[in-house]
Amino acid sequence: MSEPSNTKQQIHHITYPDLEDFVRRVLVGNGVPDKHAAIVANCLVQADLRGVDTHGSNRIPSYMQRIRQKVLDPSSSPELQQITPVAASVDGKNTFGFVSAHLAMQRAIEMAQEFGLGLVSVKHSNHFGMSAWLVQQAIDAGMMSLVFTNSSPALPVWGGMSKLMGVSPIACGAPAGKERPFILDMAPSVAARGKIYKALRRGEKIPTDWALDGDGNITDDPAKALEGVMLPMGGPKGSALAIMMDVFSGVLSGSAFAGNVTGPYDPSKPADVGHFLMAIKPDLFVSLEDFKARMDYLYQRVVGSDKMAGVDRIYYPGEIEQITREKRLVGGIPFTEAEIESLNKEAELVGVEKLKYDDVGTL
Ligand SMILES: NC(=O)c1ccc[n+]([C@@H]2O[C@H](COP(=O)([O-])OP(=O)(O)OC[C@H]3O[C@@H](n4cnc5c(N)ncnc54)[C@H](O)[C@@H]3O)[C@@H](O)[C@H]2O)c1
Repeated sequence: MSEPSNTKQQIHHITYPDLEDFVRRVLVGNGVPDKHAAIVANCLVQADLRGVDTHGSNRIPSYMQRIRQKVLDPSSSPELQQITPVAASVDGKNTFGFVSAHLAMQRAIEMAQEFGLGLVSVKHSNHFGMSAWLVQQAIDAGMMSLVFTNSSPALPVWGGMSKLMGVSPIACGAPAGKERPFILDMAPSVAARGKIYKALRRGEKIPTDWALDGDGNITDDPAKALEGVMLPMGGPKGSALAIMMDVFSGVLSGSAFAGNVTGPYDPSKPADVGHFLMAIKPDLFVSLEDFKARMDYLYQRVVGSDKMAGVDRIYYPGEIEQITREKRLVGGIPFTEAEIESLNKEAELVGVEKLKYDDVGTL
């Protein structure tokens, strides 16, 4: 029987520096070098800050489990090979996807600064969580970007009934002037699979258009949904986007593809995820001043558009997450007690200080 919902939903707010420090300690305790632990902790907490709780610190137990199962190497370092002046390849050496993708975007930015664009393909990698942190890495350097990854099978192709493609997010971004940057980061399913794990953790039901159970029936039960398949957004169009992620991230890189990326809960072998990252200098065709003014105008036209009935405000892609970030930077990041307990178990396992929490709020 499930616990009473008020126990499950007791919420505590944790400040982002405390959380980032905690995550970094747990990672170091599991054999991750300091420099890499700092990157992974920062990426996870950036997801928590943006309200992408499905891809933040709550992933720590499953990532640590992969280290214990010896299918993710906590201490290896990705290797970069320059292929042409504007193309490089990273061998992730089966370490955290965050570390390999961070290196890849860094190199893509350097190439774009010199030659106008830089593309980097990553192989033998792992899950890198929320794609938007890579888009933000590019925006912080004044760059536009494309960020693709593949992932383990969770989605049928259109007309199929078994898992073949990953729920692999497509992400891209562009800086602006005084307005918010454009940050699109979306999975090609109706909902990201992480949202089903989150509902399971929190004892909640899911909307019936998210997934089918193992027998192909509609379900609102997250456990049954995880035995079945996710539903693609927009039918064949979502399915085609998932295949596109596999072409650019899996086929092109030399990593696993066509349903062969290993799932996060399969301890039999490394994940072998592939990524594709591109940085583009925004002033290739118009001046930087002009580009920023045009991005600002686009933002104003979008959010200032006539609203349909019942809509109070129109948001730009990535804007809801940026507003959440601004609030959470000040008010802390909400966690349920069950989530904190699960993180603290990881702290116990490696003998590092647990998370402290005392601020009770509502979800
Ligand atoms: N690494 C992986 O393998 C993997 C797999 C799946 C998902 N993910 C991550 O999961 C996260 C969630 O993905 P998702 O598809 O559920 O995202 P989502 O549906 O919450 O958002 C998708 C996009 O729509 C925009 N959006 C949402 N509501 C809006 C509104 N009312 N008005 C205007 N724009 C709006 C968001 O800003 C975002 O750009 C992403 O960060 C993704 O990278 C990662």
